[in-house]
Amino acid sequence: MLLLNELFCLRPGRLINFFDKEGEGALSFGFSTLPDLASFCEGEGYGIKFSEDLDVLATPFMAGGYKVSNRFCVHPMEGSDALADGTPSALTFERYRRFARGGSGLIWFEAVSVMPEGRASPHQLMINHENIQDFSKIIEMIKREATDANGTAPTVIMQLTHSGRFSKPFGTPQPIIAYHKPVIDQRHSVNPDLPIVTDTYLESLPERFAKTALLAKEAGFDGVDVKCCHRYLLSELLSAFERPGKYGGSFENRTRLFFECIDAVRVAVGVDFIIGTRLNGFDALPGGFGCDKDDFMKPELSETLRLVNLLKAHGVDIFNITTGSPYYNSFVNRPNDVEKNEPPLSGVARMFDVVGEIQQALQNVPVVGTGFSYLREFIPFAAAGEILAGKCTSVGLGRMSFAYPDYPADILQNRFPSAKKLCITCGKCAGLLRAGGPAYCAVFDKHNN
Ligand SMILES: Cc1cc2nc3c(=O)[nH]c(=O)nc-3n(C[C@H](O)[C@H](O)[C@H](O)COP(=O)(O)O)c2cc1C
Ligand code: SF4
Repeated sequence: MLLLNELFCLRPGRLINFFDKEGEGALSFGFSTLPDLASFCEGEGYGIKFSEDLDVLATPFMAGGYKVSNRFCVHPMEGSDALADGTPSALTFERYRRFARGGSGLIWFEAVSVMPEGRASPHQLMINHENIQDFSKIIEMIKREATDANGTAPTVIMQLTHSGRFSKPFGTPQPIIAYHKPVIDQRHSVNPDLPIVTDTYLESLPERFAKTALLAKEAGFDGVDVKCCHRYLLSELLSAFERPGKYGGSFENRTRLFFECIDAVRVAVGVDFIIGTRLNGFDALPGGFGCDKDDFMKPELSETLRLVNLLKAHGVDIFNITTGSPYYNSFVNRPNDVEKNEPPLSGVARMFDVVGEIQQALQNVPVVGTGFSYLREFIPFAAAGEILAGKCTSVGLGRMSFAYPDYPADILQNRFPSAKKLCITCGKCAGLLRAGGPAYCAVFDKHNN
């Protein structure tokens, strides 16, 4: 039996008393107690669930044949700090050392490119026969450091990607696009005459995903993610309504390549290996996947739900659900206090509802939720509340993992979390990534400053 409740509920609803109030994070957020936040959300009609019973956070769950030791997940976050050939650098090792010691049961390892021309930066990771030993070393290090610090090793899933429209293999944009749409093209100055990617090129991708997945397995990863989010290549294809040929138009055509990649990966890796996907529940873009036709900021999940059910039937073991695209509407995926597009808590609530609908549809297949970092000191309560309400199985932390990698361990091991370490959602880490990297927490990460 955990002591979590004893720690947090000595005075129910007064968690803030256990944080150091001088912390920047707590001061910037503006809610001093859980009841304050919960009643504000209720008043605004935001369906975020909270629970003061946190025991569920320490319970294991199954992903495929793997037992994941607790409900925290480090979200995939590119550090853009690989060597030129895609090999993890000393900075990459250090990031994952901290994530490993942070206590999450699941580490969703960042985007690793399956093709050189599909890299998002010249410093994005790539795995091949020449550097597979370095990936083995990083996995061994993760498992060893986590076991030393927390007594148990995390499950580690490698995200496989092709950056498509956002490819920058040499540091400048070299877009590989699924289709043209003026309102989308203009945002990143895509030449209207740029030829769209050919069917022949797309046909080569399943084999690339499969080969990279096999390398990940040989290196010691527990699974891979066929990434289909944030409008990278596979994700963009989901909305290729007007693309001619076998990868555009109908639902079957727009999802064809995604399924071909999933199926090819399964053939390559066999049954004793996790296949997951990080999937956009909806794009929040004009003409986007999962969007209401009259108001693209509203999710319309009929195709999304059809897709996830089919993916489940194709043997996908775990889903990590996200929304939007950092290149067009970063506030949708990363609710924050800097951009003023909408009340950030409404964005958190929308994300949780999308994740929740998908989790309900998938029933016993685990879904990792996104959108928690904005909630700062209230993350444990929202995490437990959303899980207990059946709206997700695991709680992904992105920016918070950069800022405060030990947050899950502090909660799970009954240490007082520190408000001084909480992510303040300033967006500087994402700014570093867009500038070419390396990316890290520019506020709290003394190691890199
Ligand atoms: C610097 C940085 C790098 C990221 N890299 C990836 C990535 O490689 N793959 C991915 O799916 N999402 C990536 N994301 C998005 C995060 O996984 C996550 O969805 C986002 O930060 C929202 O979660 P949060 O509110 O917990 O931060 C990145 C985010 C940041 C800030
Ligand atoms: S740099 Fe990133 S992780 Fe650090 S406080 Fe700002 S948003 Fe949070």
